[in-house]
Amino acid sequence: MIAKYPPIWARWDVPVIVNLAGDTVGEFAEMAAMLDEVQGVAGVELNVSCPNVEAGGMFFGCDPGLAAEVTAAVRAATTLPVIVKLTPNVTDVAAVARAVADAGADALSLINTLLGLAIDVRRRRPVLGNVTGGLSGPAVKPVALRMVYQVAAAVDVPIIGLGGITGLDDALEFLMAGASAVQVGTATFADLGMVTRIIDDLAAWLAREGLTSVREIVGVANAGRGARGAE
Ligand SMILES: Cc1cc2nc3c(=O)[nH]c(=O)nc-3n(C[C@H](O)[C@H](O)[C@H](O)COP(=O)(O)O)c2cc1C
Repeated sequence: MIAKYPPIWARWDVPVIVNLAGDTVGEFAEMAAMLDEVQGVAGVELNVSCPNVEAGGMFFGCDPGLAAEVTAAVRAATTLPVIVKLTPNVTDVAAVARAVADAGADALSLINTLLGLAIDVRRRRPVLGNVTGGLSGPAVKPVALRMVYQVAAAVDVPIIGLGGITGLDDALEFLMAGASAVQVGTATFADLGMVTRIIDDLAAWLAREGLTSVREIVGVANAGRGARGAE
């Protein structure tokens, strides 16, 4: 993978962030070390929404201590910027956010998918072979926004917001809740042009509003922005 893709990414005029998933803390650190100083890789994003086989299958991102441990191990293994991607399947997302920020995360991204279930009523069985699966897209946006808002009030590191973004207004909501940047996932399956359209629409919106930078709207809806620990 490292031999094949980074030379291609290095020719692109956008930074490439590699999303990492591992079964153990050591695997995350090893992958991050392998990517360190590889031309074409601008940063790593840790998908901590996966089970830690050394901790009885407990999800890394569901426990502040485990999430901090994997963050610290990756931080020590690479000079690349480290983004930790938070799971929404927790009671207190701000506690996990604070733990990974304190462990050295350069930025946080949220949210990953929500755990869901669908049942085939004719077969009277779950639809998915794995029983549960990740819910994404517009249905998760209010949950994602709430979490971005809470995390923005709890940490000082930059936040990348995502979850159900399908256009300019969704992106603006995340920025105003406290995200400094946004990602688009599910919507790109339906429309690959979505991302560039949001970028163009955002630039036009900023110009209409007489603003020079997205920074001017980051967190404007969040009275607690920067007030570390406030919920
Ligand atoms: C088909 C699919 C595959 C995904 N794969 C990953 C993955 O490999 N790593 C990860 O961190 N998140 C993964 N996600 C989660 C998304 O990146 C995103 O966090 C989530 O779907 C919410 O954003 P969205 O509503 O814009 O898709 C995946 C989501 C979907 C729908």
